Amino acid sequence: MTAKVIDGTAAAENVLATVKSATQKLVADTGIQPGIAVIIVGEDPASQSYVRSKGKRAEECGFKSETYRLPADTPEADLLALIDKLNKDDSIHGFLVQLPVPDHIDDGKVIQAVDPDKDVDGFNFVNVGRLVTGQLGEAFVPCTPNGSMVLLRRALGAADLSGLNAVVVGRSNIVGKPMAHLLLAANATVTIAHSRTKDLPGLCRTADILVAAVGRPEMIKADWVKPGACVIDVGINRVPAPEKGEGKYKVVGDVAYDECAEVAGSITPVPGGVGKMTVAMLMASTLASACRKAGVEPPSY
Ligand code: GUN
Repeated sequence: MTAKVIDGTAAAENVLATVKSATQKLVADTGIQPGIAVIIVGEDPASQSYVRSKGKRAEECGFKSETYRLPADTPEADLLALIDKLNKDDSIHGFLVQLPVPDHIDDGKVIQAVDPDKDVDGFNFVNVGRLVTGQLGEAFVPCTPNGSMVLLRRALGAADLSGLNAVVVGRSNIVGKPMAHLLLAANATVTIAHSRTKDLPGLCRTADILVAAVGRPEMIKADWVKPGACVIDVGINRVPAPEKGEGKYKVVGDVAYDECAEVAGSITPVPGGVGKMTVAMLMASTLASACRKAGVEPPSY
């Protein structure tokens, strides 16, 4: 079997087009323009690039967009004061602090300081609780697993995963755990696997849906994949690529793509899979926040 390739770039463009048209309608009908703010502390190049892309997409969607670039030595109290200001700003419907923050700042304190109803990252305990208890209509869900679910629904052509076994490899708070709860809410039978799991290849072979979110380049091999399974690769790993020239790098996922694509029924590539969905879903969540405020049903994806 050669797997169907799940095109995350096209899916993300599709989500963004829906957000843009729903934003135009929201503004025309209610006068409410979705507003997003992103805070970055320090100069980490990867974080700077993510933040630029968030601002660019927000403007393309027709949002009010603010970016706060704070120096690396910003006191924690100043960051908390900015969060408090954004919590109270009626023109901002969603905001986030880009992680990681410098060591002298307590990221847990920062996350819990964000108003849960503006926490478009979905990291605040209130949103974790809403997700875990199945109150998805009120929850903000972390963007990467939320986008992975959109890709899964597109690949399988169904929102109801009844009777399907899902294995999530990775137990992070940002991807593995929320992904498992989203799959459970869609009626899949879910197992979370991790570095201490016994016979990981054997367990993965039971999966109709296999989600890899471990951050280990090409760890998942073809003989870990059940024939016909849907494979979602959340990994983004930068590895040396001497074949491209000395000192060159390439980006690979957690799944050995070429060999697994021979066995899977559908699979996300890296790059071009889950990666682009993260920012698209951030826009979708910000729009949803503005829609909630306006008493308007947000689009589904
Ligand atoms: N850093 C890496 N991914 C994320 C994310 O989804 N949200 C935030 N705030 N920071 C991140």
